Amino acid sequence: MEVFRKRYIPGNRNNLRLYGQRISGFFKKYFRKLYNLWEFFYVTLRSKIYRFFDFLFVLTKCYPQNYWFTKIDLSLLLDYWLESPFAISKRYLQLKFEPDIYQYGETPLLTMEHIAQKLAINENDHVFELGSGTGRCAFWLACSRKCRVTGIEQISQFIDCTRRILDHYKPLKQRINFIKGNFLEEDLSAATIIYLYGSKMSNREINSLILNLHGLRPGTRIVTVSYSLNEIIQENGNMLKEKFSLIASFKAEFFWGKTMVFVQEISFD
Ligand SMILES: C[S@@+](CC[C@H](N)C(=O)[O-])C[C@H]1O[C@@H](n2cnc3c(N)ncnc32)[C@H](O)[C@@H]1O
Repeated sequence: MEVFRKRYIPGNRNNLRLYGQRISGFFKKYFRKLYNLWEFFYVTLRSKIYRFFDFLFVLTKCYPQNYWFTKIDLSLLLDYWLESPFAISKRYLQLKFEPDIYQYGETPLLTMEHIAQKLAINENDHVFELGSGTGRCAFWLACSRKCRVTGIEQISQFIDCTRRILDHYKPLKQRINFIKGNFLEEDLSAATIIYLYGSKMSNREINSLILNLHGLRPGTRIVTVSYSLNEIIQENGNMLKEKFSLIASFKAEFFWGKTMVFVQEISFD
């Protein structure tokens, strides 16, 4: 088949239009490249600035306030000096043949503190952290808010490290507990607050978690990052929607950018 291509023909009056199209195509292409570059630069810069503020917060607020937390945090730093939590998680996911091996992320302590203030977490609470990673947030909550914390994590290396640290702080053991397991199957009934930062979880996993959360006590608050539980239920036409009432939502900063945090409560029937 003969292919007709628009091209410059001397003396043709369409030449100007063709030139215009080519020039605008050229600028569009380079403008898009420039925009992508700027976006990358902006996200990186933003993340670095927020990391710096988080670091300042840890140094000026967390450490002076809590001697135990300082020691725990420095132990964590040493433990993950040679292999970062990101690398450990990546290796674990590779061995499981997961299609997305870059699932690991951490809640900055500054953000965790913001969330704790919004929820007014206190010593009467029992926080369940679903996917506790290195346990840094769990340790911070237990040390600063004096609440009970249960971290559930699937990667044994993280659990072993948190348990090793806990062995040195016997009084903390009464307040913190780390379980090696799958939070989709564990018993969460003791929780008054559940924290889930699982922005890479599939809808199938979240729906299975929703079934697990369904049996919780009325009044239990569930904090999710990036999505609300009802959004996922709605998307899948699930009838459990009325079980969770959205009581608050606010913006929070993570290292990759700002996102919404949703607080939902198990409603009283
Ligand atoms: C995004 S990281 C969050 C770490 C920590 N909660 C924080 O906010 O800093 C998610 C963690 O959840 C763990 N995880 C994911 N799915 C899990 C499951 N079904 N059961 C237990 N842990 C899980 C991962 O191994 C990873 O350490």
